[in-house]
Amino acid sequence: MENAGFSARCLLFGLSSFFLLVQTSDGDISYSIPEERNVGYVIGNLAKDLGLNAKTLSVRNTRLDVDDERKRYCDIDLKTGDLTVADRIDRERLCGLKSLCVLKYEVILENPLELRRISIEITDINDNSPVFANDVVKLEITESAAKGARFAVNEARDADIGDNRVQEYKLQENNYFSFLFHKTPGQETYGELVLEKELDREKEQELRLLLTARDGGNPPKSGSVVIHVTVLDANDNSPVFSQSVYEVKLPEDTSIGTTITRVSAIDADEGANGKVTYGFAHLSEDMLEMFTLESETGNLILSANVDYERQTTYELKVECKDGAGLASFAKVVIDIDDVNDNVPTIQLKSLNNPIPENTQPGSEVGIINVQDRDSGKNRQINCIIQGNVPFVLKPSIKNYFSIVTTDELDRELISSYNLTITATDEGTPPLSSSKTVQMSVSDVNDNAPVFEKQKYNAFVTENNRPGTSISSVTASDPDWMQNGTVLYTLVPTVVHGIPVSSFISVNADSGVIHAVRSFDYEKFRNFNVQVIARDNGSPPLSSNVTVSVFITDENDNSPQILYPAPDEKSLMTEMVPKAALSGSLVSKVIAVDADSGQNSWLSYQIVKSTDPGLFIIGLHSGEIRALRDITESDSMKQNLVVLVKDNGHPSLSATCSVYLLISDNLSEVPELKDMANEESNSKLTFYLIIALVLVSTFFLTFIILIVAVKFCQRRKPRLLFDGAVTIPSAYLPPNYAEVEGAGTLRSSYNYDGYLTTGSRTSDFKFITSYNDSTLNASGALKQNPDDSNIISLFDSGDSQEV
Ligand SMILES: *[C@@H]1O[C@H](CO)[C@@H](O)[C@H](O)[C@H]1NC(C)=O
Ligand SMILES: *[C@@H]1O[C@H](CO)[C@@H](O)[C@H](O)[C@H]1NC(C)=O
Ligand SMILES: *[C@@H]1O[C@H](CO)[C@@H](O)[C@H](O)[C@H]1NC(C)=O
Repeated sequence: MENAGFSARCLLFGLSSFFLLVQTSDGDISYSIPEERNVGYVIGNLAKDLGLNAKTLSVRNTRLDVDDERKRYCDIDLKTGDLTVADRIDRERLCGLKSLCVLKYEVILENPLELRRISIEITDINDNSPVFANDVVKLEITESAAKGARFAVNEARDADIGDNRVQEYKLQENNYFSFLFHKTPGQETYGELVLEKELDREKEQELRLLLTARDGGNPPKSGSVVIHVTVLDANDNSPVFSQSVYEVKLPEDTSIGTTITRVSAIDADEGANGKVTYGFAHLSEDMLEMFTLESETGNLILSANVDYERQTTYELKVECKDGAGLASFAKVVIDIDDVNDNVPTIQLKSLNNPIPENTQPGSEVGIINVQDRDSGKNRQINCIIQGNVPFVLKPSIKNYFSIVTTDELDRELISSYNLTITATDEGTPPLSSSKTVQMSVSDVNDNAPVFEKQKYNAFVTENNRPGTSISSVTASDPDWMQNGTVLYTLVPTVVHGIPVSSFISVNADSGVIHAVRSFDYEKFRNFNVQVIARDNGSPPLSSNVTVSVFITDENDNSPQILYPAPDEKSLMTEMVPKAALSGSLVSKVIAVDADSGQNSWLSYQIVKSTDPGLFIIGLHSGEIRALRDITESDSMKQNLVVLVKDNGHPSLSATCSVYLLISDNLSEVPELKDMANEESNSKLTFYLIIALVLVSTFFLTFIILIVAVKFCQRRKPRLLFDGAVTIPSAYLPPNYAEVEGAGTLRSSYNYDGYLTTGSRTSDFKFITSYNDSTLNASGALKQNPDDSNIISLFDSGDSQEV
């Protein structure tokens, strides 16, 4: 191994390479190509040899695993699946004199991660000629040398191997020497000049012979050297090395300047002829830089750092020479000892990043490769992931480790991990290195939105403005981006037969609930709606919540007086028996209020009466009772104005007039006319009235005449008020459930009608009875809405406010 040009790196792991080759598994794919092929040369179809198609190679991101430090000689063409030459492959540079030169690569395929090994044997071509170290070889031989004496000649070197190496030497025809070439297989080759005939200095002082070396290539190549033999006097002796081979062991961390060994030779001659000097015989440039041989002392000194990882052994040919120029050769073999001087290296070969949070425990998410360029124990590596993370390393093939999850991941808890991978070798002291890999966890839509409350209540006061916001719902979803974006919608249900969307709406983004219409507490008081919160994932997740909407009352309804009927202005007159005693019930005002609670609490009071001391009204019952016994002196007609008020803030009220007639008999009413307090301010009206009275008088007289012809019959009083009032059910608004003090008015309640005068509109109405049917009839008669007091039995002059 004299050629220092072969670096161990290029020897592809040196000895271990050979070792690996021996343990080549069946799965390996082997190729063999000659060196020096052009770039792009197809070594073989990798896809086919892996049993895959080219497309799969590309999909699985197939690549050759090449150390950063190493040169890439091959490539995979993902289009065709071919393995091609990527750079010049010079076998001599890669492997030197090694008989087997193999490039080894690992092919990495992802999804699933898979590692296949390929080996490419590089075969030799005869691209190097034999080369002698010098152009001239000088030999000095004494004339006394015996026939058959041998003289070593530095052989020619050929960088090729096998048959392409030097196979034969040819010495130019001469009388004295022949050339002997020793090439026993497995041993060093060397050449010797053999003296065939004694020399005679007197005849010939020097000889020049051409030696040609020829390799066994096809075609063969050759190189030659001139051997210059000088014939010396008989008394000269060659120096002789103390050993033919010096063997030294050198730790790789030996410092520069250290004396590696000392070579020494002895020369039997005296004086200048016996003075020995040392030198290298045949050494390449870079080896000359590494070693220095002191010519006087024979000390071999290290002049550059050695590296076990680059080269493990060195062979140096050394030469000693005496003053007369006689020389001999010896060999120094230096074995470099490994020292743990390389830290392990960690390479990330593949990483699924980010990994989805629903990755199953035990899934392989990445692959790393660790290397240590030392050997033996120094390259045994232990590799772990530090810290409390749900990832471990699992040893895979050779120096590969898989990064495997050990637990379930939850992006909402931890969204990324820093994995610190530490590799430690087993040297003493151990060396270690670490690498941090950032691993992100990507989102999966695994969380449904969650409402902040289990149930929401919304209160809205009736008569609200449409569009008022009445409440808002909020749901949160911890997922990422659209998977965590919450949209709100209403469940399309039906409330009171109406789609809920016409009552309220929910803002899809904000969850604010708006009233779509104005609510009326008197129509309904509460309803439930369901709001769905849905995220934007695919598929989306959702949850729902019930929102109860309560409509609160507002005092928006005035009391409504049912009795006496307010609209009719009013033909109702209560008969009060003359003998009514103090405390007897004479009438009852019945009113209701559509509001509820305080807003519907009604109170009654008399605000105006003909005789203030005569009647009293129950504050809450509305019952009108005599305050004292009725006497003869009391006026026959009594008018009361009753105010009905609710308890709202502010309160609303209504008034009505109650007409009472103290009499046992209708015929006893003499001054009916007076009771109608006519204040006609229109002359026209006045004249019309006179005209009408005349016509009416005439008409009445006519009727009375006809009646008198038949028979004359006195009418009995038909109405006796007994304190009980029955309200015709048709009076009640349809929705009223409660009627305060639901009393009883006799349905056979009957009034007699009297002709009376109207207002300036001068309408005449003639009504004979006041019951259910006549009420309708009078409604029909009333054509002009301005006719507020057309027909009235007793017109007190108080207008009713409702
Ligand atoms: C991971 O390392 C980066 C950079 O050193 C740092 O910013 C980040 O906070 C680390 N993350 C965790 C989860 O520790
Ligand atoms: C949302 O979740 C789905 C799986 O459910 C995932 O494929 C997607 O990448 C997620 N989106 C984001 C923005 O993380
Ligand atoms: C509301 O949620 C319950 C369970 O949480 C579910 O059973 C129901 O179907 C949901 N309703 C709607 C309208 O989505």
